[in-house]
Amino acid sequence: GHHIMSERVGIILAGGSGSRLRPITNFTTKQFLPIYDKPLIFYSISTLINAGISEILIILNDQDLNKCSEALGDGEDWGVKFHYAVQKEPKGIAEAFLIGETFINNRSSCLILGDNIFHGSNVETKLSVASKNEIGAGIFVTKVRNPERFGILNYYKNGKPKSIVEKPKNPKSSSAVTGLYFYDKDVVEIAKKLKPSPRGELEITDINRRYLSENKLNIYNLSSSDLWLDAGTFDSLAEATDIVKTYKNKNNAAIGSPELAALKSGFISTTKYKKLIKAYGNVPYANWLEEKLDD
Ligand code: G1P
Repeated sequence: GHHIMSERVGIILAGGSGSRLRPITNFTTKQFLPIYDKPLIFYSISTLINAGISEILIILNDQDLNKCSEALGDGEDWGVKFHYAVQKEPKGIAEAFLIGETFINNRSSCLILGDNIFHGSNVETKLSVASKNEIGAGIFVTKVRNPERFGILNYYKNGKPKSIVEKPKNPKSSSAVTGLYFYDKDVVEIAKKLKPSPRGELEITDINRRYLSENKLNIYNLSSSDLWLDAGTFDSLAEATDIVKTYKNKNNAAIGSPELAALKSGFISTTKYKKLIKAYGNVPYANWLEEKLDD
């Protein structure tokens, strides 16, 4: 019989209060903070668009929801559809699948943390591989210098993954799980059965462990030339701005442009893209988007 492939949906979890970024976040929403030439939220949106995902649930805290939905709208300009939902308290990354249950509606999904920035020529390829893989889960892993702060993989001698430990005191490797996750439709039921961890959160690591124990966890390793940033602190925000700026000036390529990602993914036509440029007016970002048409 016919097998109907339902499309993978995206979730951006940006529910935190940004308290670590006070006083800045007393005045503005974390999602609006500039990473060089674009607001922070553009970067996770672009990553999902690059993965070919057009239906996107954005999860925010109470105060940020109105501001963000007003600024971003329904996504039509970028050929996507934004849905919005509230996370009342930061009760863990895995709660996204409880909040998003009706949105997900038995489809496969991709979750990205709102302050995570991914980039690299291989990243886009890996994204589409991960997105097309309908069975099990997919995580993106990269080497870090401070493994105590992340979910860390342990490996068997033969290189197969053995376990994942959240914020290990004695890390067995430097391979960290980044904030980009692909799941089949089972993730919602798995999330429902989770118990809060000692830090009082529903842990994404517990979901990934479950897939690992069932041999259904695909691991995508970012290469050293790939970029992963978690812009949750002053230093990482500044670093992210610096990296995006340097990358743009060196390669004249964009990181985190939803317009360009939408054009590349075929979500918008060239005509529509030109309209968006026009709407910006004669400003550097629009001029740059225009240049990209010739590439
Ligand atoms: C979370 C996850 C952790 C992951 C990290 C990536 O940590 O729990 O497994 O490595 O995101 O940024 P948290 O930001 O909750 O400390």
